[in-house]
Amino acid sequence: MPTTSPLPAARIRPATVLDAAALAAVHLQGWRETYGAKIPEAVYVDRAEHGTAVWEEMLSDPDAPTTWVAHRDGEPVGLARAEAPGAGNVRPLELRLLYVLAAEQGHGTGHNLVQLAIGDAPCFLWVEEGNVRAQDFYRDLGFELDGATRQTAAQGHLTELRMVR
Ligand SMILES: CC(C)(COP(=O)(O)OP(=O)(O)OC[C@H]1O[C@@H](n2cnc3c(N)ncnc32)[C@H](O)[C@@H]1OP(=O)(O)O)[C@@H](O)C(=O)NCCC(=O)NCCS
Repeated sequence: MPTTSPLPAARIRPATVLDAAALAAVHLQGWRETYGAKIPEAVYVDRAEHGTAVWEEMLSDPDAPTTWVAHRDGEPVGLARAEAPGAGNVRPLELRLLYVLAAEQGHGTGHNLVQLAIGDAPCFLWVEEGNVRAQDFYRDLGFELDGATRQTAAQGHLTELRMVR
């Protein structure tokens, strides 16, 4: 009987400004796959129009933290980025962005992206309240909800819960 080998995790490298358009597309697709109709169509349209410029700015800053891009066959399929917002925060490091496209999930890419972006460091992040899969994923990595909530993602249309470790 023929067997199929499991898909290996995607490869990962640091992003450069040349990845801006592709990362904007992955980010937008990640939003659609994760949040669907919870985000108004007008917000998606705005991101489609301005996303590349936003990513160009983020990737052009020489002082910016590394954005990690997961890729398969030359095509970006995921991304991660952590930032150090400084003292006064619940932890000095924040996992700001983590997306793996739906077709690529479950093959270890998410874990590998997290390992590169934050390693084992104490850290915090915000996750949408209905995103139970991501909350479980983070719980496995040692994060716990700490009770804080906010409404700032996607121009205020999502309620987010804070997780810390
Ligand atoms: C959360 C997310 C980043 C996880 O990415 P992923 O690539 O599916 O993650 P992994 O494959 O590393 O791990 C997922 C599961 O696959 C399993 N897995 C399969 N192959 C694996 C491997 N080779 N190594 C590690 N885990 C593996 C793990 O056990 C894990 O189990 P879990 O679902 O109980 O956590 C991804 O689901 C995602 O992008 N979701 C949409 C966007 C999102 O919610 N982002 C977070 C916003 S705060």
